[in-house]
Amino acid sequence: MTEPVRTSRTVDLKNLVNGRWQDGHGEKFESINPSRSSVVIGAGALAGKAEVDEAVAAAARAQPAWGRMPHHERAAILARAATIIEESADDWGYDLATEEGKTTSEGIGEVIRAAQILRYCAGEADREAGEIYSSPRRGERLLVTRRPVGVVAVITPFNFPIAIPAWKIAPALSHGNAVVWKPASVVPLLAMRLAQALHDAGLPPGVLNLLLADGATGGHLVDHVEVDAVTFTGSTGVGRAIAASCAARGIPVQAEMGGKNPAIVLADADLDLAVEHVLLGAFRSAGQKCTATSRLIIEQGIADEFLDEFTRRARSLVVGDAVAPDTQVGPLISAAAQATVQRGIDTAVQQGATPLAGGSGFLGGQLAEGFFVPPTVLELPSTDLDVWREELFGPVVAVVRAHDAQDAFALANDSAYGLSAAVFTNDLARALDSVDELDVGILHVNSETAGADPHVPFGGARHSGYGPKEQGRASREFFTRTTTVYLRGGASS
Ligand code: UN1
Repeated sequence: MTEPVRTSRTVDLKNLVNGRWQDGHGEKFESINPSRSSVVIGAGALAGKAEVDEAVAAAARAQPAWGRMPHHERAAILARAATIIEESADDWGYDLATEEGKTTSEGIGEVIRAAQILRYCAGEADREAGEIYSSPRRGERLLVTRRPVGVVAVITPFNFPIAIPAWKIAPALSHGNAVVWKPASVVPLLAMRLAQALHDAGLPPGVLNLLLADGATGGHLVDHVEVDAVTFTGSTGVGRAIAASCAARGIPVQAEMGGKNPAIVLADADLDLAVEHVLLGAFRSAGQKCTATSRLIIEQGIADEFLDEFTRRARSLVVGDAVAPDTQVGPLISAAAQATVQRGIDTAVQQGATPLAGGSGFLGGQLAEGFFVPPTVLELPSTDLDVWREELFGPVVAVVRAHDAQDAFALANDSAYGLSAAVFTNDLARALDSVDELDVGILHVNSETAGADPHVPFGGARHSGYGPKEQGRASREFFTRTTTVYLRGGASS
């Protein structure tokens, strides 16, 4: 691998603490372009424990006034930030593609999505803010009101460097909380852009603090005595460790974790639609989504026909530099991720899988400098292989054949995860059966496994999720506490 070099476009990476951009005091670090690993995107020094303490103290000082501000005033700041983000979508989408590796059009789409999430959360000010119940006693009403939780630690992954932060930070702020945010340190640039947009929109100092830091410093943040709640997206291992440490301190935690999401293609499905959507679900963002399709279950009768077309299309996807106009599949985030996914593919083949597309990674030529893995389709002889169970987080789909719809649903449920699933069928009865049978948080009937609208709950079952769901009105359950008020007039009756 060529040594990374800084260019005139390399960004100075800084932390936002108490409304000021400051250099970190820890180790030097760089973010690089995963399509061309010799290019340094950002360079700076990591924040350490001292900065965590400083940021949490600033958040704790700022939160009471922020929480008391009328909801509509907080919302106006989020809406202004949404406008700034929207106006920057083309530039930031390109930046996102150079740092994270999804294609430019996906990058621009993600930036616009972040703006939409901020607007949705700004709209929270116009929605009902609690409940009123009748009382069994005369002259009394029962009110359920909501208050902010306090200081929230937000820990976000690399794969959606602006949309996932937006869907955690915007509801936290809208409901009156202060935030200390630690993004994945491989994608600092979009984090700085989002924080700057909120700052420029008028967020008071200390209400949002951004720390570019490693996992150990993230651990210090999670364990900080003045942090009142933690929201996390990332691997199941880290999520459960965070949940355990939050439980030990008795604070709420919300963890969105892994997935091993099945797409089920039943014999009566529209095969063109199914091929298109399984391709999108499996290979967009190079499969680096917790909602990506990584298992494909096909009803026996149409399996050969479906696989012929599906593998032909998978082989013809253009793999390349994320910002090249014709690229359909960009690189993985790092050399380590590339090696892990390649190892997963090799193990599957050793265990008896047949590669129908892709299989051998490490592309040469112009792509040798990036962390590419070609779209890979593996047909499995049974479900005993590791690739059937373990999340690889890459462009790899494991295929099995099912005898009938019931068998397909049972195979889909044969996973420790339960985030999303897709079912392709034109038979309403089978579609309705899938709603009853599939144990997942998100079910798509005749569309890909990925995707999440801002106004409906997002999150999974079992190994995929822990704590209240994200997004929509569900996020209010996590970012507020309720007070039940027994309300009477003062005069005796
Ligand atoms: C999507 O499917 O568009 O980390 C969003 C992830 C999920 C978000 C998926 N939390 O991939």
